[in-house]
Amino acid sequence: MEIQLMNIQRQHETYSKEYEKAALKVLRSGIYIGGQEVNKFEEEFASYEGAKYGISCGNGSDSIILALRSLGIGVGDEVITVSWTFFATAESIIAVGATPVFIDVCSDTYCMNPELIENAITSKTKAVLPVHLYGQSCDMKTIKAICRKHNLYLITDCAQSTGTKYDNQRKNTLGDVACFSFFPTKNLGCAGDGGMVLTDNEDIARACRSLKVHGSGEDGLLTLKKNYSLRGETFPDNIPSGKNKYYNYLIGYNSRLDALQAAILRKKLVHIEEFIDKRRENVTLFNEALKGTEYITPIQGEHCYHSYYIYALKHTNAQIIMKRLKAAGISCGTYYPIPIHQQGAFAQFGYHKGSLPVTEELSKTTFAIPVFPELYSDERDYIIEQLKTVSEV
Ligand SMILES: Cc1ncc(COP(=O)(O)O)c(C=O)c1O
Repeated sequence: MEIQLMNIQRQHETYSKEYEKAALKVLRSGIYIGGQEVNKFEEEFASYEGAKYGISCGNGSDSIILALRSLGIGVGDEVITVSWTFFATAESIIAVGATPVFIDVCSDTYCMNPELIENAITSKTKAVLPVHLYGQSCDMKTIKAICRKHNLYLITDCAQSTGTKYDNQRKNTLGDVACFSFFPTKNLGCAGDGGMVLTDNEDIARACRSLKVHGSGEDGLLTLKKNYSLRGETFPDNIPSGKNKYYNYLIGYNSRLDALQAAILRKKLVHIEEFIDKRRENVTLFNEALKGTEYITPIQGEHCYHSYYIYALKHTNAQIIMKRLKAAGISCGTYYPIPIHQQGAFAQFGYHKGSLPVTEELSKTTFAIPVFPELYSDERDYIIEQLKTVSEV
């Protein structure tokens, strides 16, 4: 038997007629950039997650860049984040000129350890950027309280947590600004790249709307005016001001979600709860079957409703087990094998082996197995059987 870690074809097959019809409609419409499909998807996704404003963009990495820029975070600023995440979290912070300051994660939830935040705060700290890794929610209550106390922005990396809840509500996972990815394998994935910024703050929404289209339009003008007033400066009266896309007020980006993607995402969003339920069903089965073994199964953090983008097991012999599972046809892998602070790109940042002990340990002892919603029951049985067999010494 061959089982992929994430099977996108099967995801497409489940409701292929709906997706293909929606895609064909866009192809025939000739409206490929912006338009109704994009506007509607922004509204529907924001409403699903419980936010006031949704600003779609080209991918999840851009959504972090837009969030940071909309808050005026840049050169000289520090952002407290984790190293136990996908590279883009920290890369996006650097892309706006700011510095990521890494803290360790909790050894049971694998998310940012709130107890370490206050020690990492300096006069340069502008924001805290936790990651709801694997679909697990961070301890939002504690992190929010720290941000409020120190007057810091809370930006959440929700790339892996579409559908996750904290205190029974999806909106409780969002913070001041939330950043989503619709990379094809994600809980809600498109047929290419896509991302979204969610916020309840009109100024942040306005800045993102302009920044994603080269800093243009009325949203750019209003953002520029606000920036002048925040600095206590008078807005110059000689600036050419128009509301169309050829008036640029900010240095932004070209980062748009295609109408084709939006149309497909709208159809998938209708079924998202079903997809998450199936992930959770698989998890219940795996957790139950692995009770009493040496595998440490993932926990749901307090107040968290986990959406299980990734189901990661922990085992002291993770490397050998992965080799054996692969040999048995079961795809698996560590998310992520090299923590960001140990990557070559971060060599000049001064971190060393032992800087983040929990993160470093997780990179050696955890590994993800297939948990996607369309897993067949005989595949699940085979995975369980093999997990038990391959862990024998
Ligand atoms: C935690 C995290 N942050 C950011 C990103 C970046 O998203 P994208 O690949 O859509 O740019 C990803 C995507 O894999 C991710 O998992």
